[in-house]
Amino acid sequence: MDVFKVHGGTSLSGKIRVSGSKNSALPLMSASLLASGTTTIKDVPVLSDVLFMQKLLGEIGAECSRNEPHTLSIDAARIYKPYGDYEIVRKMRASICVLGPLLARCGRAEVSMPGGCSIGTRPVDLHIRGLRELGADIRISKGYIIAKASKGLKGKKIFLGGPFGSSVLATANVMMAATLAEGETIIESAACEPEVVDLANFLKTMGARIYNAGSPEMRIEGVPELRPTNYRVIPDRIEAGTYMVAAGITGGELEIDNCRLDHLGAVSDALEKMGMVIEKTTEGCRISSGKVIRPVDITTQPYPGFPTDLQAQFMAMLSIAQGNSVVTEKIFPDRFMHVPEMTRMGALLRKEGQCTIVNGVPGLTSAPIMASDLRASAALVLAGLAAEGETTINRVYHIDRGYEKIEEKLNKVGAEIVRESA
Ligand code: EPU
Repeated sequence: MDVFKVHGGTSLSGKIRVSGSKNSALPLMSASLLASGTTTIKDVPVLSDVLFMQKLLGEIGAECSRNEPHTLSIDAARIYKPYGDYEIVRKMRASICVLGPLLARCGRAEVSMPGGCSIGTRPVDLHIRGLRELGADIRISKGYIIAKASKGLKGKKIFLGGPFGSSVLATANVMMAATLAEGETIIESAACEPEVVDLANFLKTMGARIYNAGSPEMRIEGVPELRPTNYRVIPDRIEAGTYMVAAGITGGELEIDNCRLDHLGAVSDALEKMGMVIEKTTEGCRISSGKVIRPVDITTQPYPGFPTDLQAQFMAMLSIAQGNSVVTEKIFPDRFMHVPEMTRMGALLRKEGQCTIVNGVPGLTSAPIMASDLRASAALVLAGLAAEGETTINRVYHIDRGYEKIEEKLNKVGAEIVRESA
């Protein structure tokens, strides 16, 4: 298992390029199952989660190949096994995204229930409810979701809100299935995340009729079939936000290319309140640190609210702010595994229910720490960049799931991170 040795204390400066969005690429890859033929997706990051999805699609019968490092071709001419095995699904929850497309294209699908993960219990009831509303017969047996739609799917008005609001991947699953359903589907309380809009745009290039994606009420008119397409994934807004924090936490200045500031409204607002200066550039943005880091209260919410996927990274920066902040997690209330690790680095954090109170300290100190999930790992790298001395981060395989060559990118702008095989 690889470890990172992070030598902290250097202000970052220079230019960094953001990769294509992981959380867009994964549903897009699943959606390519909807059309017979070869779909090509550009700017697909090379990440372990993408490799898992390639493996899953391969087992289903869709061959994936990369002609260039970031261009993925998926030949879905034949689907011989509409099946998502537990061994893959348990490693990557986004595998659940094949359920809707397989059901729509093959009239049946068997996909393992994903189970929980290190950021908390993650139910799939909304996925199942939405697909049932479209007419699928679904039962759970031996840990698998067994779905059938022998007479095809039928459009309907579906309310898809859950106890924590909308669901990104449930919206994606139902939207994908509805593209080939008979008649009109309306998804109420649809997720509005840029990745949902990207998926809708991708499906539209395949011939789908989707209206108002990005609003809480989305409409889909079913079509008899879709065709393969060529498409470029949007930039990864969470990776971009992570590098914005890297500039802030090290008191540096970064130019961030391939970054959509319009996807980062709540994030930019919080950073500006913390004293950062953000300017738009042709390729993305330039972000520079203020004299001090000011505290700010953050509450995670569905888009356009503050993203849960940047909560841990912001907590790292707030831990050295001049004052106290409250971080409230409203999407995944247990997503605080980074708190004890940051505490080992000298952060003053107190978790109370779904909030963590952050008392800013003048600086962090290095320590051996453990990455627990993807975003927590990124936050620990950021904390390591700000800390005095050398921080050892164990289990960095988590970070390889979602950040392409993070140490190379950060080292090019002045960081000192060494990957070692332990
Ligand atoms: N929820 C339900 N029932 C469901 C589905 C979700 O109650 O059937 C709840 C969840 O437990 C949570 C809330 O709804 O409280 C929102 O979860 P959502 O379904 O939107 O999460 P997701 O679609 O499974 C995606 C991202 C996550 C990101 C969340 C929230 C992908 C592959 N994953 O997950 O990304 O945190 O949306 O924005 O797109 C990450 O990249 O590190 C990551 C975890």
